[in-house]
Amino acid sequence: MKADRDIRKPRRFDLKDVRTRQRTRPAPGRRIAEELVFRTIMQAIDERCMEVKLLDLTAQYLPIRNEIRRAIDEVCDSQALILGPYVERFEKKLAGYCQTRAAIGVSSGTDALLCSLMAMEVGPGDEVICPSFTFFATAGCIARLGATPVFVDINPATFNIDPEKIEAKITPRTKALLPVHLFGQCADMTRINQIASAHKLKVLEDAAQAIGAKHKGHVACSLGFAGCLSFYPTKNLGAFGDAGAICTNDEAFAERCRLLRVHGSGHQYHHKYIGGMFRLAGIQAAVLEVKLKYLNDWHEARRRNAALYDKLLAGSKVITPRIEEDNWSIYNQYVVRVPNRDHVRALLADQGIGAAVYYPIPLHRQECFAYLNVPEGALPETEEACREVLALPIYPELEEAQVRRVAEVLLEAVK
Ligand SMILES: Cc1ncc(COP(=O)(O)O)c(C=O)c1O
Repeated sequence: MKADRDIRKPRRFDLKDVRTRQRTRPAPGRRIAEELVFRTIMQAIDERCMEVKLLDLTAQYLPIRNEIRRAIDEVCDSQALILGPYVERFEKKLAGYCQTRAAIGVSSGTDALLCSLMAMEVGPGDEVICPSFTFFATAGCIARLGATPVFVDINPATFNIDPEKIEAKITPRTKALLPVHLFGQCADMTRINQIASAHKLKVLEDAAQAIGAKHKGHVACSLGFAGCLSFYPTKNLGAFGDAGAICTNDEAFAERCRLLRVHGSGHQYHHKYIGGMFRLAGIQAAVLEVKLKYLNDWHEARRRNAALYDKLLAGSKVITPRIEEDNWSIYNQYVVRVPNRDHVRALLADQGIGAAVYYPIPLHRQECFAYLNVPEGALPETEEACREVLALPIYPELEEAQVRRVAEVLLEAVK
């Protein structure tokens, strides 16, 4: 399909139009019915270019549908539904992908965080340092264990925790650092690890949005003590439901997580720890194993889309995301900053373009964290980001014409 045609104006055809055209300029050998089918297809293609969804999971599924269904069938036939051989096989491949000794499949990204923090013995009286500009699970899991999330502001250019603001928040109660690799770009793990080792703290990576992202050539989850992944369907590697994993090089920690995901039990009805029910399902593992083969291609397609947006939006009022030189982003999201964000988002919606706000309210201003008494204005970069950010469609199957259309409409909207 040509990208340079004016795609704001879809072709509209109907039977009358075709009949008129046939009378005046008959297409020899082409019957009216054929002509109609041809034109209906052209119209559908045009309309697909007009409307750009924020995410289209069907576009990813259709080309691998048979392979996925065969994998699911195999699990159904074997009835290895929870943990078992499909989970173990996927865990091995995932550990290889993340360059860690072990991977432990769990029921969600949230449970990966919860199980890891439990295995690190985080509990009442402890403090864990994390950003406030993130999905709720990051801080929610800390609080669920009776510990206190201590929020640190972000670097406005990368949206990730600002390492230079961490040390001021460290106290004798600090138990761990929990940076988030937001939108698919690693936090500054070099600096974070320096601070952690100076204060003898463990670093747990929230890599829910960043499977395969790299910092100085090393893969997310292999950069700290352990890393947590989410396979929620919108992630670059998405399951067919909730799923997650913990990756680590520490064998003792891995073993503890394996027990904690089944109520702390190694042998049936013998409970060494008080854990949770964090098991991964066989069907999810089988789907993820199929998809893992395609993951690097999907990352590359997202990166191509991001590069095109960068080029098309350069020099405008739209601030495009900055990826640090040491980082290789997997672009789980492509998040820009725009003036009058809510107005711009509404204009995009009017033109059939999906966009989303991650995140409109910082965690320190959430009602459930009012007890932490973090006042408005305490984390100014986080609060400003919440007012300005807008995530654009970036999924791998987007066509070039669609990326161009989003950029064109956005540039018009910010004028
Ligand atoms: C940064 C971050 N942490 C944790 C999670 C939790 O993952 P899940 O939705 O699989 O529980 C998410 C999910 O979106 C996330 O984005």
